[in-house]
Amino acid sequence: MKTIGLFYGSTYGMTEKIAEKIKIAFGKHKVVLYNVKDAPQEALKEYDYLIFGTSAWGIGEMQDDWERWIFELEDIDFSGKKVALFGLGDQKEYPESFVDGLGTLYCRLPDKSVVVGEWPTVGYKYYFSLADKDGKFVGLVLDENNQQEKSDERIRKWVMQLEKEFV
Ligand SMILES: Cc1cc2nc3c(=O)[nH]c(=O)nc-3n(C[C@H](O)[C@H](O)[C@H](O)COP(=O)(O)O)c2cc1C
Repeated sequence: MKTIGLFYGSTYGMTEKIAEKIKIAFGKHKVVLYNVKDAPQEALKEYDYLIFGTSAWGIGEMQDDWERWIFELEDIDFSGKKVALFGLGDQKEYPESFVDGLGTLYCRLPDKSVVVGEWPTVGYKYYFSLADKDGKFVGLVLDENNQQEKSDERIRKWVMQLEKEFV
């Protein structure tokens, strides 16, 4: 598999910690991490396989740095690329806007046909989520606030899935 560029935004470091775990889970495949707080747009062009990760902040909001960096995606040619998404949220405190940042990130992608890595909604409890599309999440969903013990296994399964879908 080709090298993967993983771009994340993280306010309190939870998404950053997950980004590092995803990198380790890919093992021998190389994953290069970029914090969108200071990532250059040119870095996006270097990778055919991309992973974008964000936490959720308020109704429909991505993590702050993503809110600024999302415009960098607008003139990127996504043809020939594959993009997988992951999102963090808190289903107990925000069940009416659970992982909305992930849903918004998906909405803002100029080309949805390149997205892989959808994830089942089973095992989460929420009333509404922008990331829930036709009964599936548009990417891996993790809740470090309430289901931290499930994250490692979820990451392991998702990475195995991506190893098949990143082709
Ligand atoms: C002020 C505030 C607003 C939040 N809003 C949401 C929300 O609307 N939906 C959600 O699922 N999680 C929400 N969260 C939870 C965070 O997304 C979650 O704790 C996440 O793991 C933080 O990751 P980070 O440290 O990488 O930014 C909110 C947290 C705070 C403190």
